[in-house]
Amino acid sequence: MRRALALAVSAAALTLFAAAAAPEEKELAAALPAAFARAADQYRLLTEQMKAGNGRHPKSFANGKLVTIPPEDWCSGFYPGSLWFLYEYTKDPFWKAEAEKATEIQEKVRHYNGNHDIGFMLMSSVGQALRLGAGTPQRKRRYEEILHDGAAALATRYTDKMKLIRSWGKIGDERSYLVIVDNMMNLELLEWDAKRGGAARSAEIAKNHADMTDGHHFRADGSAFHVLNYNQKTPGKILEYRSGQGACASGAWSRGHSWAIYGFTMMHRETKNPRYLERAIRAADYAINHPNMPADGIPYWDYHAANIPDEERDSSAGAIMASALLELSALAPAAKAAAYRAFAVRQLRALISDGYFAKRGEIGGFLLKHGVGSKPQFIQGGKGGEVDVPLNYADYYLLEALLRFKALTEQPEAASAARVDARHVPERMDDFVWENDFCGMRAYGPKVSEPRPAGEGLVSSGFDVFNKAVPDVMMAETLIRGVKEKISYHQNNGRGFDNYKVSTGRGCGGVGRMTEDGWRYARNWRTQRVLEKSGQKAVFELGYEAYTIRGTVTAGAPFTRFDVLPRTGASGKPAAGRDLMGPGLDVSADRRHDGTLKIDLKRGFVANFEPFGVDGDGNGNVMTAILLDPACGPAHLASDETGCLHLLQRGNVFTYYAGAAWSGAGRFTTPDEWFAYVKDFADSLAQ
Ligand code: GLY
Repeated sequence: MRRALALAVSAAALTLFAAAAAPEEKELAAALPAAFARAADQYRLLTEQMKAGNGRHPKSFANGKLVTIPPEDWCSGFYPGSLWFLYEYTKDPFWKAEAEKATEIQEKVRHYNGNHDIGFMLMSSVGQALRLGAGTPQRKRRYEEILHDGAAALATRYTDKMKLIRSWGKIGDERSYLVIVDNMMNLELLEWDAKRGGAARSAEIAKNHADMTDGHHFRADGSAFHVLNYNQKTPGKILEYRSGQGACASGAWSRGHSWAIYGFTMMHRETKNPRYLERAIRAADYAINHPNMPADGIPYWDYHAANIPDEERDSSAGAIMASALLELSALAPAAKAAAYRAFAVRQLRALISDGYFAKRGEIGGFLLKHGVGSKPQFIQGGKGGEVDVPLNYADYYLLEALLRFKALTEQPEAASAARVDARHVPERMDDFVWENDFCGMRAYGPKVSEPRPAGEGLVSSGFDVFNKAVPDVMMAETLIRGVKEKISYHQNNGRGFDNYKVSTGRGCGGVGRMTEDGWRYARNWRTQRVLEKSGQKAVFELGYEAYTIRGTVTAGAPFTRFDVLPRTGASGKPAAGRDLMGPGLDVSADRRHDGTLKIDLKRGFVANFEPFGVDGDGNGNVMTAILLDPACGPAHLASDETGCLHLLQRGNVFTYYAGAAWSGAGRFTTPDEWFAYVKDFADSLAQ
C-alpha cells in the first residue's frame, strides 16, 4: 500500500511518456500491419468456406473440419464482428460486403430470449455494423431497430423482484435463477438502448444487474464466481455456487474473470459509476498479479486448475483481458493505468507470435490457436467441450484489442484523459481552482473580497472542497457552466458539486499563524500563476501578503502538496519567521464540519469524516485531511477561535498536504477506510 501511494504521487506525470516510449509498445505498433495482413489472409479462407453458409457462422475448427453455428448460438455475432474489424483496419470494401452479408443473418435473432446472450449476439455484429457501415439512413434505422428489439428481448429475462437478468434457464422457472458473470457483457446492449431512445428502464436494469453482480459475484480476493443460483424466496441471497466452465465452484475460471474485467470497465465507461471502476480494478489486479499467471500473460483456463503448469492456456481469456485492460488503462488512476497498458501489450505481443497466431492456412482460417471453450464439458465428453481449439470470440477480441491499441498509440493524449487541473476561473468571480481525480479545491481571489455586487465581501484564505464523483477534470467547467446557465453548483449533478462551507474559516488546508497576540490569517490571495500543467500533474502558486503557497497536484491520490515559501523582502532575502504556522482543518459544528475525527500527531495528520453536506442534505459524506510533512518535525495541535484545528510547526517555510474525497465516488465510504488511507499516505511520506 505504502509503495502504491508513493508511486501514485511520483509516477503519475510520467505515465504517458513512459507508456508511449516503451520499446514493447513500439514493437507491437510496428507489428500491426503484418498481423492484420495475416488475419486478412486467414479470414479470406473462412469467407471462401462460408460461401454456401446456409445462414450459419464459423465458430471453431475440430478434427480437420470447420464447426459452424446458427444465429441462436451465443457465439453467432463474433464472425460478423471480426469481418467488421478487418474492414475497419483495411477499409477494403471486400470486408464490408462480407461483414454485411454475415450481419444480415443476425436479424433472425432480434427477438430471441432463450438465454441472456442476445447482447453478445447483436452488439458484436449489428452493433459493429451500425458503428462502421450503416451507410444509408434506412440501413441505419434497420440496425437500430434490431438492437432496440434485442434489448427488449433481453429485458424479458429480468425481474424487479430479483433485480437480475436470468442468464440461463427458462423464464419463470421456480427451481433456479442462474446468473453467470459473463452476463455483464450483455449489459452494453441495454446501455446502448437507454441512450439511443429505447426504454429508459434498460439503464435501470443494467445498473441493478451490475450492482447485484458487484455485490455477490466476487470473492474477497477479487476473483469472480462463474455461476450463482439466486434464492427466489429470499431475493438477494444465494442458494448455491456452481462451477460452470471453471475447475470447480471454488476455482476461478479465467474467461469468466476476463468477462468481469471487461464488463465492469464497460459499465464504468457507460455510467461513470466509480464503484464499477473499482470492481474492474480489483478484478484486473487479481489477474495480473496472480501467481499462476504465466510470463506471457495468457492465463491457464482456470487460475486454480489442478495440474498447472501442464494445463491448457485459454487464448480467448487472454484476448478478452487484453482488450479490457486497454480500455481500463484509459479510465483508471495513472499509477494503475501504466501497469494495465503494459500488461495488455505483453499479452498482445504473445498472441500475435507464432505460439498462438495461426500461420497461413492453419486451423481452418481462424486466427488464434489454444482456446478452451469448456474443459469440464470436454472431460465429461459433452458436446462443445472444446479444448485447445480456435474459437471465433478469441479472434474477435484479439482484433478489437489490436484496434484499441492502435487508437491509443495514435491519440495518446485523448486516450489518457486528463485527471488534473489548476487554473484561474475569473468567470466565477475570481476563484483559483485545482483538482485531481479525487477532489477539487479552490481559493478566493481579491475580487471575491470586494463588496457586492462586484464581489461578495468574503475575506478568506481558506480552501474550499469540491466533491467529485468522476475522476476526470470537471471542476472549472462546472463552475463556469453554473454561472452562465444559472445552475447551482451546490446541487449534485451526478458528476460533482460543492456543498462544503468555507466562509472565513480555514476550510481544508488554509494556513493559520499563531502569534503572541492571537491568530492571524492572510486575506484572499493577491497573485496566482500556473507554473506547469499536464493531464497528470499541475504546479501553481498563490501569492498571499506574507507568503506564497506553491501547490503541486498529481493524479492518483486525493492530496495536493503545498510548499509555503516566505515572500522576499526589499532586500531580496526571505523574511525570517519564528511564529507557529501551519494548515488548518475546519471541524466546527457551525459550518457542519463536526464529524468523526482522527488525530495522529505522531504521523502528523488530522482527518475528518463528515456525516453530511452543509444543509444536512443527505448528499453523502465528505472526507478531509491535512498532513504536515515529516521533515517539519513534530506537529503541534491547536484549535483557533473559528473552530479549526491546526497542525503547527515553527517557522514560515514548510510543506504540508491537504485533500478530500467524497463517499459518492465510492472509493471510501466509512471513517475506517478513510483513516486507514490517510495513515498509509502519512507513512509513505515518512519513507
Ligand atoms: N458464456 C460465454 C462463455 O462461455 O464464455
